[in-house]
Amino acid sequence: MNVKSIAEFDTELKQVFGSNTSTAPLVDDTRMGRRIYGVDLTQPLNPEQSRLMVDLLDRFSVISFPDQDQSSFRLAYLERLANHFGAPIPHPKNYANYVEYKNNNAELALPPISEQTHTKCNQAFPNDFQCIEDANSPAVYIVTNLLGSGADAQEQSMGSLHWHTDIEFEPVPLSTSMFYVQAAPTTRNSSEGTWVSPQPRAPGYYHVDSSPELMQRRNVLPLNGETAYTDTAAAYADLAVEDKQALDGQMVRRRLRVDDPGWLIPLVYTNPRTGVKSLHSPVWASRGKNIAPVEVDGLSGDESRLFLDRLEAHVLQSKYRYDHIHKPGDVTLWSNFATLHNAPACKSVINDPADTRLMYRISCKGQPSYSLPRQDPEAWIEQNITPPYTSPREYT
Ligand SMILES: [Fe+2]
Repeated sequence: MNVKSIAEFDTELKQVFGSNTSTAPLVDDTRMGRRIYGVDLTQPLNPEQSRLMVDLLDRFSVISFPDQDQSSFRLAYLERLANHFGAPIPHPKNYANYVEYKNNNAELALPPISEQTHTKCNQAFPNDFQCIEDANSPAVYIVTNLLGSGADAQEQSMGSLHWHTDIEFEPVPLSTSMFYVQAAPTTRNSSEGTWVSPQPRAPGYYHVDSSPELMQRRNVLPLNGETAYTDTAAAYADLAVEDKQALDGQMVRRRLRVDDPGWLIPLVYTNPRTGVKSLHSPVWASRGKNIAPVEVDGLSGDESRLFLDRLEAHVLQSKYRYDHIHKPGDVTLWSNFATLHNAPACKSVINDPADTRLMYRISCKGQPSYSLPRQDPEAWIEQNITPPYTSPREYT
């Protein structure tokens, strides 16, 4: 299939979004990632514009739209944008009774406003940070260190997570995630001159038989609140032809819990719009003990770990890595099929508003839709969006 050049993207961007737009690499032109200037996401996208947005993400895997107008940006706009990329999925933690819903099919309800995350965030530094007013959609997950924080709080830090892609363990894996950034940390007062000091791993965080090389690559992590990404399309492209051939047909069994039967899904993802192949979450235990390890079809548990550890070590090489520093007003999207990522070590409880991390995430799955509202069949929503959800009509 025809993959557009950067010059062609820049020309098309000006044609459909206006002459004040431009792009720049996040690292350099040979690597994934693009920053796109001059696109105002408070405005709805016409089909030509949304198609270009999807093309940009297909091509660059991480795309960032800086300088959104913070006084007028609403999360309804982020949710509208998400609807072009896929069907937004609600976050279970946003509901008051998700467990009851799962167990007894109770009707889902949001908590009272006083119990919602945004209200609690607003209490940390009331004169410095108030969440955006419409932060109460079930599809919006608030990523923050404001909970439990305040001028009198005792500062706490936490380490980064395992390398993973978001929700790769469902039959229709999540395709796209996006952040709108309201606040990002500005202090750099740790012993390393960074936002946080390196956080030691608890024993057993990773499998004890992981190779020193893999452990070293896993643990090279940013310390200024960046989201760490790695490019699994470039990593696939660099493999030897025989390795590609061997991997192309490889199925892996993904599941949430060890006793779930799970399902087989290809390890190599082929983008249906570009034909570009990537390794889809080539990680044996992407959430440690929280999610069942992946079984490589035809291999034992130990063989599966060795097989996937080799791939994880390959994709975590520095040449595929990019650490994205967040800035207020950014909207940043990433493809979960073509990247792995890691949440940064962070100050998890803070007593200085300059340390605030306040971002809003929406994730989605399924096929893009260039015009809105989406037309996902009810049965598909019922089966693949848990709990079932569609964005309110007024958002789209
Ligand atoms: Fe994640």
